[in-house]
Amino acid sequence: MKVLVIGGGGREHAIAATLARSPRITKLYVAPGNGGISGVAECVPIKATDIAEMVRFVQAEGIDFVMVAPDDPLALGMVDALTAASVPTFGPTQAAAILESSKAFSKGLMEQYNIPTARYRVFDGNVEAAVAYIREQGAPIVVKCDGLALGKGVVVAQTIAEAEAAVRAMMEEGRFGQSGAKVVIEECMTGPEVTVLAFTDGKTIATMPAAQDHKRVFDNDEGPNTGGMGAFCPSPKYTPELAEICMETIFRPTIAAMAKEGRPFKGVIYFGLMLTPNGPKVIEYNARFGDPETQPILALLKTDLLDIFEAVVEERLAEQEIRWSADAACCVVLASGGYPGTYETGKIISGLDQVPADVTVYHAGTKLEDGAYFTAGGRVLGVTAKAPTLDEAIARAYAGVTPIQFEGMQYRTDIGRR
Ligand code: AMP
Ligand code: GLY
Repeated sequence: MKVLVIGGGGREHAIAATLARSPRITKLYVAPGNGGISGVAECVPIKATDIAEMVRFVQAEGIDFVMVAPDDPLALGMVDALTAASVPTFGPTQAAAILESSKAFSKGLMEQYNIPTARYRVFDGNVEAAVAYIREQGAPIVVKCDGLALGKGVVVAQTIAEAEAAVRAMMEEGRFGQSGAKVVIEECMTGPEVTVLAFTDGKTIATMPAAQDHKRVFDNDEGPNTGGMGAFCPSPKYTPELAEICMETIFRPTIAAMAKEGRPFKGVIYFGLMLTPNGPKVIEYNARFGDPETQPILALLKTDLLDIFEAVVEERLAEQEIRWSADAACCVVLASGGYPGTYETGKIISGLDQVPADVTVYHAGTKLEDGAYFTAGGRVLGVTAKAPTLDEAIARAYAGVTPIQFEGMQYRTDIGRR
């Protein structure tokens, strides 16, 4: 089979490397891919959001199966377009991807179907009403852009002034463009966070080992939110008892609600959960694999990933066996200096050839030029290792970080330590 993965970050490198092990794949493409991905697949220079060009390429090349990984092509209807062109495609339709692309939609869905989440109000254009609500509710309070914002459209405000400033930046100053024209203001919840990803064909839900992301840029969860600075799995906080509660109160009700709304969800659904004193609640949904959660999670997958993807598309997930290793895995992200703010790119990366053989380095933002790798994004590499225990997996991942260097390189030294 000829298979195409759409995207070009660390998550897509992990997905492509995992698919590359499938004996049924004769040719693997990634569009647009990146420097590191070119080691496991042929990179095709088509933007992940260019639907017309992607459909043209898929037809010209006779691609048999497509997997769409990032949020923006999903929100734009990439799956709908490829499916209409008769190409089996893994991922939610545009109608289902709204679960991620509009927080106002997802909050409304949870309210209507009694799925536990933070109390909230939506404000569309009316800044003064939003400010009045913040003053009435008090701080801490959380302000979120309605639309997609690269994981950066959320402000957990400790003061009323900070919350007001966030609302004005989103609604008046247009910091996030259209994504911030509408905002969700919600109750600040407390508790540990856990990410649960699940395959679903719209009827059956198969969860993956629970992971924990590290969203803040600096150690001890300080500094601004990022796309994710590291992740590990399985999460010791996610007990079998909690898993059952989440399945009954969150996972199944969500899939059933989407089906009932005429938006059946097929693909990977991401549940961002907070384990509050009043039980697990949804922080957010995503309509895709998480990045960097995917890197450690797929390190534990034993089943052919293509088999699972096909079972989802063909709606026979209930019959598909999915096996996971009992090991633990950890991914440490190496980022450009300045990220998640402004940063420079084009820095040469050294030491990749000295990384121990039991460590996998996924490339998130790199370029390959004349045999050398250069930085090309905010998150640059995801150094990933697995081992029988979490402590060993963490130690192995950091041993993999040691030889790697590039100018301005920054990373957290406490991934998995909490
Ligand atoms: P999100 O992009 O919605 O996952 O939000 C980014 C981060 O902001 C989350 O991982 C949480 O740490 C924090 N956050 C979001 N919503 C809330 C909330 N209602 N209460 C407390 N923290 C939140
Ligand atoms: N790591 C968070 C996300 O993928 O949204």
